[in-house]
Amino acid sequence: MVQVATSILSADFAKLGSEVKALDKAGADWIHVDVMDGCFVPNLTMGPMVVQSIRPYTKKPLDVHLMVKKPSVLIPAFAQAGSDIITVHLECAEKMENLIALIKKFHKKVGISIKPKTKVADIIPYLPMIDLVLVMSVEPGFGGQAFMPQALKKIAELKALIGRKKVLVEVDGGVNDVTAPACRLAGADVLVAGNYVLKNKSKAGAIKKLKGKS
Ligand code: DX5
Ligand code: ZN
Repeated sequence: MVQVATSILSADFAKLGSEVKALDKAGADWIHVDVMDGCFVPNLTMGPMVVQSIRPYTKKPLDVHLMVKKPSVLIPAFAQAGSDIITVHLECAEKMENLIALIKKFHKKVGISIKPKTKVADIIPYLPMIDLVLVMSVEPGFGGQAFMPQALKKIAELKALIGRKKVLVEVDGGVNDVTAPACRLAGADVLVAGNYVLKNKSKAGAIKKLKGKS
């Protein structure tokens, strides 16, 4: 069954600990942490200290999405803060091989993300070295944007390329009860959801709907 990674970008930052606890209790499989540096994307969010602060509030994997120009500067601190999965962008300013090696040095799972305009073909050389591909279905930078349906073809393409290998395909941006069924059908393994879950009266109900349970 598809897993749900709830993005705390849509949470109330004044009470992140209890928000994370509530998401855990509501059935989130992973907690997705959107890190933005004000350079790779025009927004600024959380640093390693935030990951360290929320770590005691859940045992679920912390899925850290680095939307930053130079991930190598931050990877050691995010790893030590308690991240489980660290995802970097293929479009960042550094060499993927070096970033993959650095994340693995800390025994963390490695993800690579591609923006809407980046082709699936560009990620092929790295598939044997990573645990996860994060397909952006919005331009990274902000929560609450509309899902770009072009992402569906990319998910299906990736699933075909991955075959039986153990690489998960995660989709991020604009996932809600309307767009989730198509993502599941395309073969997505993990759905990231911020606004849809956090702004819903029932977080547990929203997570169930994303998973295709009524
Ligand atoms: C966008 C982030 C997403 C975003 C998802 O740059 O990577 O994780 O928070 O939020 P929603 O689900 O609201 O589109
Ligand atoms: Zn994200």
